[in-house]
Amino acid sequence: MQVSHRAREMDLAIAFHSLDFHQRPSHTENMNDQNLRDHLLPLRWQYVVTAAPESWELAFQDIINVDASARIIASLSPGIFVVDSALRSVDLAQQLRTSGIFVRHLFLLLDVIVQRYGHECLPKIVDVSIGLRRHLNPAQSFSVQTRTLSQDGPGNFEVNTLVSNAFMALGFRLDVKHPDQAISIVCTDFAVYLGASSIAHNLSDWAGGMRRFARDANQLSRAEFKLLEALEVFPLDLPYQGTVLDLGAAPGGWTRVFRERGLTVVAVDPAMLDARLTKDRGVTHVPSTAETYLKKTSGSEIFDLIVNDMRIDTTRSARLMCEASKLLKRDQFALMTLKLPAKHQRRRIRNTLSVLSQSYRVGGVRKLFHNRSEVTAFLQKR
Ligand SMILES: C[S@@+](CC[C@H](N)C(=O)[O-])C[C@H]1O[C@@H](n2cnc3c(N)ncnc32)[C@H](O)[C@@H]1O
Repeated sequence: MQVSHRAREMDLAIAFHSLDFHQRPSHTENMNDQNLRDHLLPLRWQYVVTAAPESWELAFQDIINVDASARIIASLSPGIFVVDSALRSVDLAQQLRTSGIFVRHLFLLLDVIVQRYGHECLPKIVDVSIGLRRHLNPAQSFSVQTRTLSQDGPGNFEVNTLVSNAFMALGFRLDVKHPDQAISIVCTDFAVYLGASSIAHNLSDWAGGMRRFARDANQLSRAEFKLLEALEVFPLDLPYQGTVLDLGAAPGGWTRVFRERGLTVVAVDPAMLDARLTKDRGVTHVPSTAETYLKKTSGSEIFDLIVNDMRIDTTRSARLMCEASKLLKRDQFALMTLKLPAKHQRRRIRNTLSVLSQSYRVGGVRKLFHNRSEVTAFLQKR
């Protein structure tokens, strides 16, 4: 599937502006007669969708799976595209949250400024953003989430600051970290795309789903970010003073995060753990493969949580997870990264989930911002 970037983007921006105003979703809020609204509106909406650049086709497939009529109408940059869909944002977000894997973020497109991007666009961006305030609830917090894809012109910070100040002057309360709603702005060379929506409809609290964590001086591995993100995305409350089985634990990033949160860890990996963990009494390092560990361990329902970040074939990894489930307490949770091949990823995920379903209910599978060639699955013991 090929989507050209620039030409299609210009077409989209111009087409959006030539829509009769009755047809624009941004004008619907003033109509209070439902019949009139349904009659006048085309029952279609446009969304700016974001996925990892290498996964955009799979992300679009996620959307097709919930709305077979959806089509891509523009590509703004690798991984960021505009989709036309028959689903309202509340339904699209809810269905993607349940069954989607690769869509990281989306927002309902409410207006487009067709203008070459530069400093001279700023007053217009502020004006149009303020015009979208009727889509926001003044009693709830907001943030401005800008992504500038253009090399020229003002950067994210400048746009965010200007628009945020304008909203705060109107009495809106800014909360950059955990906003209830967001003004989303994507600036390309030729146009600026804008939306204003509840964060719940965007799938992520973060612009484009790009969840960045501050680097911790004690961090042991980049893999820690993957776990931190999973703990935010999935409804997993870490068991207070519980015990975790960490399969594929070395050098120990995940183990460190669990220790910091008061859990005791059995860390299984033939590789060495970082020296900073070896003296910790709350960590038991088992220097063997998961296969050997599971063969030798006879207990049952010992653990409150099992996590698995092993770099091995996913089917083999899933079988080991099923074997390990005997060690997990009833109804408790597990997290697992599925390392994926370059091709046929969806088939691989399907087959792996089918193995896992023998022992677990699948609570969700997501390609997180910090996942590379992999996805993360959230599981609950049957
Ligand atoms: C991506 S690293 C894990 C990183 C770890 N989660 C962290 O935060 O530091 C993958 C690990 O899987 C381990 N591994 C590979 N095959 C394994 C197996 N059969 N049993 C246990 N560990 C295995 C590797 O030794 C490697 O340390």
